[in-house]
Amino acid sequence: MAAARCLLLLSIFLLVGQATQGGGEARPLVPAVFIFGDSLVDVGNNNYLHTIAKANTPPYGRDFKDHVATGRFCNGKIFSDFIAEKVGFNSSPPAYLSPQASGRNLLLGANFASAASGYYNHEFLFISISFYKQLKHFKEYQSKLAAFAGSSQARSIVSGSLYIICAGSCDFGLNYYINPFLWLLRNSEQFADHLLTIFSRIVEQLYDTGARRIGVFSLPPLGCFPSAMTVYGHGKSGCVPRLNNDARYYNMRLNATVGSISDKYHDLKIAILDMYTPLYRLSTAPQSLGFTEAKRACCGTGTLETSSLMCNLLTPGTCRNAQTYVYWDSGHPSEAANKVVVDYFAADIKNLVA
Ligand SMILES: *[C@@H]1O[C@H](CO)[C@@H](O)[C@H](O)[C@H]1NC(C)=O
Repeated sequence: MAAARCLLLLSIFLLVGQATQGGGEARPLVPAVFIFGDSLVDVGNNNYLHTIAKANTPPYGRDFKDHVATGRFCNGKIFSDFIAEKVGFNSSPPAYLSPQASGRNLLLGANFASAASGYYNHEFLFISISFYKQLKHFKEYQSKLAAFAGSSQARSIVSGSLYIICAGSCDFGLNYYINPFLWLLRNSEQFADHLLTIFSRIVEQLYDTGARRIGVFSLPPLGCFPSAMTVYGHGKSGCVPRLNNDARYYNMRLNATVGSISDKYHDLKIAILDMYTPLYRLSTAPQSLGFTEAKRACCGTGTLETSSLMCNLLTPGTCRNAQTYVYWDSGHPSEAANKVVVDYFAADIKNLVA
């Protein structure tokens, strides 16, 4: 009797072991991941555009094992990679415009994000893929997926997967603050409200397509990026309050917007991925999290810099160890900071895919 029970238990363990191990790795918690937005999540789509907003040359990517500059605006992994890891994948799904986004890889999802992009259909269209175009690419992706996997599997992948939206920073940083046609017409709060109207429509479109799990990034503390301190800091060394106030207003309205979207769609899981709080803490109290430098970027901080595009091999004084820098270039956190941010909202990601 006892022996029989032991055998039974043993076989249950073996079964469970087989189900969860499948080749030594745990099964991902969702069929696939889809990513939309800007350079904080772009894994190389801009490599396939004629644009100056590219990160496919050294020292970008220098802390990857093979030191390859993939197009990520970072020394290593970015938000989309860490989020994909949290749900059981090795890295972000491939950049949609890359040759990797074909065949079996279609089953992993796709990354449609484009550096310098935003919600607003703006004048920077020619250097990045607009949100409107990213959604068109998603439609196109779905036809490819259906052709590869059949339409019923395609539908179940689309409805079961995790959707990530990360945009808004460029709408302010590369557009609103430098474009008089925008700031003469609307104050920053009106502009934020306008962006959120566009965001709501995007969520509705994704919902209509079948999306049921959506994570949307808040704005970061715009005033704490080294580029902002150089351009708007007037020689003071702290974060720029006006820019952070704009981000906080936007985030407060994002909270209300997401709240009313949740009320409207009861079968939609949608959550805010708060990057403001951890990045503000990293920027203002780096030592408390094991970082040494938050004011200067590892690469490309000088008095002349106006954008992250100033980080390249000719940049003097690129730091030796980016692990202790909060900012890799003047517009993007380092891999180490990206990890802190994603760890901060890991529970929200787990809830979305539960
Ligand atoms: C909005 O903020 C409140 C208070 O902090 C919080 O309880 C709520 O979960 C937030 N809503 C969303 C959608 O994140």
